[in-house]
Amino acid sequence: MKKAARITITGAAGQISYSLIFRIASGEFLGKDQPIILQLLEITPGMNALSGVAMELSDCAFPLVKEIICTDNVDLAFQNSEYAFLVGARPRGPGMERKDLLQANAAIFSEQGKAINNSASKSIKVIVVGNPANTNALIALKNAPDIDPSQFTAMTRLDHNRAQSQVADKTGSPVSSVENIIIWGNHSATQYPDLHHTMIGEKSAFDMINIDWYKNELIPCVQQRGAEIIKARGASSAASAANAAINHMRDWALGTDNWVSMGVLSDGSYGVAKDIIYSFPCRCSNGRWDIIKDLALNEFSKEKMKDSERELLEEKEAIRELLDD
Ligand code: NAD
Ligand code: LMR
Repeated sequence: MKKAARITITGAAGQISYSLIFRIASGEFLGKDQPIILQLLEITPGMNALSGVAMELSDCAFPLVKEIICTDNVDLAFQNSEYAFLVGARPRGPGMERKDLLQANAAIFSEQGKAINNSASKSIKVIVVGNPANTNALIALKNAPDIDPSQFTAMTRLDHNRAQSQVADKTGSPVSSVENIIIWGNHSATQYPDLHHTMIGEKSAFDMINIDWYKNELIPCVQQRGAEIIKARGASSAASAANAAINHMRDWALGTDNWVSMGVLSDGSYGVAKDIIYSFPCRCSNGRWDIIKDLALNEFSKEKMKDSERELLEEKEAIRELLDD
């Protein structure tokens, strides 16, 4: 029997977690042979709801779950944690942009960055889901100076999955045949879904879809999908967000040959400013991600990538006092 892995999930009584926790507990993240300890964090007013989630978890009798810790103590939640899903944060409502949440949510990530630094395993892998995810991830990593910055990432996998699914639908292809999608930049309306390297089976995507559909329908669709869902559901995406978080962390922990989009600390690749969390195409193996390098970029792509970079630099400026550097 393997040693149990410690997994922290914040915002554990919220919408996303209601899907995420149960899928992780069933083995969809680390596999059916990996026992786990769940360390579930809520704010104090959420603890009663969290006790209900814990009762349901227990009622599932998941064989892999060795222990469930429910707490409103940040240090306890991250104690020796090896994987952290930072979900807990306010979601936006209709008419808001994700960056409007920055002032409400930023402090959460400085506190949690510090707790990760003090209490977590030094090899912890962190995904930030709470919005605005890129800048929140930057805040968390800057507040955890003893943890390698490559261990903090932000989720753009939902955008990646959205683009993949739209292309599959449009071309009548199986979703698994659509490969090498890229989401560049911020998880926001400036993100840039790039199909210039996308393959559908043996064909390049632009052999099967026309450029007008790409520019005038696909790009705005992916950029605005979160807002569309809020309009339709009256609440932000939850099950698809949980699914994307599992995809992101599983691929990172266990490796994948596929290109995946991940918000990671920019090293200046593709001329993107250093020291912001920017979504790049990545490959994951041996528990690490690497940016896929030397892809050709046309002027259209360069311009779109700059727009998103500019927005991230503005967000960074707005929370500079929380960056402990
Ligand atoms: P929700 O309101 O249903 O749940 C959030 C939970 O977090 C609540 O239970 C709340 O009590 C808890 N919480 C708040 N502050 C906390 C703290 N300091 N510590 C621990 N828990 C805390 O929201 P949700 O629908 O689950 O969404 C959570 C976040 O994820 C939002 O910011 C949303 O915008 C974001 N999101 C991101 C993506 C993405 O693709 N990156 C996708 C969907 C949603
Ligand atoms: C999404 O993309 O669905 C989430 O970021 C929620 C939102 O606010 O759009």
